[in-house]
Amino acid sequence: MRPIYLDYNASTPIDPLVAAAMRPFLEDHFGNPSSGHWAAAGAKAAIEDARSKVAQLLGAEADEVVFTSGGSEANNLALKGVAWAAKANGGHIITSAVEHPSVLEPCRFLSQHGFKITQVPVDRTGRIDPDDVRRAITPQTILVSIMHANNEVGTIQPLAEVSRITRTHGIRLHTDAAQSVGKIATDVGTLGVDLLTIAGHKLYAPKGVGALYVRRGTPLEPLIHGAGHEGGRRAGTESALLAVGLGTACDLARDLEPMEKVRVLRDRLWQRLRAKFDHRVVLNGHAEDRLPNTLNVSFVGRVGAEILAQLGGVAASTGSACHAGRVELSPVLKAMGVPSEVGMGAIRFSLGRGTTEEEIDAVADRLASVAVA
Ligand SMILES: Cc1ncc(COP(=O)(O)O)c(C=O)c1O
Repeated sequence: MRPIYLDYNASTPIDPLVAAAMRPFLEDHFGNPSSGHWAAAGAKAAIEDARSKVAQLLGAEADEVVFTSGGSEANNLALKGVAWAAKANGGHIITSAVEHPSVLEPCRFLSQHGFKITQVPVDRTGRIDPDDVRRAITPQTILVSIMHANNEVGTIQPLAEVSRITRTHGIRLHTDAAQSVGKIATDVGTLGVDLLTIAGHKLYAPKGVGALYVRRGTPLEPLIHGAGHEGGRRAGTESALLAVGLGTACDLARDLEPMEKVRVLRDRLWQRLRAKFDHRVVLNGHAEDRLPNTLNVSFVGRVGAEILAQLGGVAASTGSACHAGRVELSPVLKAMGVPSEVGMGAIRFSLGRGTTEEEIDAVADRLASVAVA
């Protein structure tokens, strides 16, 4: 059977326009962007053009964009960078129970170095309650980090409400927008955030590049010390090749129209599964406030990995892992309070620009034949 890719939240293919924009920087413009001669000029100008494109997508200024190696580095830079720079003002950070490991692990690291971390819980749909953030704030709180949209279930967090609270208290707000950039609007002014993480390979740019938006005036200690690249926020000779890839992808991502087609296909898959399985299939995540491409469903009483294995050639993810013969739910589903017999049957289908109606119907047909209890 023809392979079908429904794992766009894990990674996207490189858009052909992105690849085309990058090619000259693979083959020709090799100069060090920091050099003062002719061989540097093309690379330097391309990096600054790419920086403007990333900024434009976010409604930010170009000098507020720091290129990184990806989402994980951007999250590490946001958390450790602000923690280190602002520790004289206090050592308390608030985050949520459903963050990506690249937020949770830096928090764990910081907790081993004297910082105090509070994790606010989520409800059954995966949403935090902004009032929990309000209640968690202490005079020592220096940073709140709440993801924009969850990678597993797609639930979108009420960031604007959180930012009203953090602003009142003069606390910086970071969001991990690795999953939301290119899928929903991510204007930093509307969201009210001071730092925002982008991961290139989730939005049709290559792996190995990302960015951190840092609002002007936000204290930030670099993770990588060296020469003054990236406005002194990340040392190391910049890659024009990767910056151009991310810049072009961000330029394309300003058009959210293709996501409406994706939403229709996503809902078509859900409708077909509901029609076939009725109450034996359950939606994980928020019914409305959810990424338009993400469908996380549980086949009640079944094991997601076993269904996927029988689907043959369908790339998707499960919400559980098998450890020593026992099915262990993902930390996200656990935090949402999903019961074990529901969570173990979870499969995340994440669609993208390349998904077709034929593919969705083929997956629905295959599921109908293999997932019958
Ligand atoms: C929500 C979220 N944050 C951060 C990351 C990490 O991004 P990267 O793979 O670019 O390091 C991912 C990737 O899975 C993600 O889904």
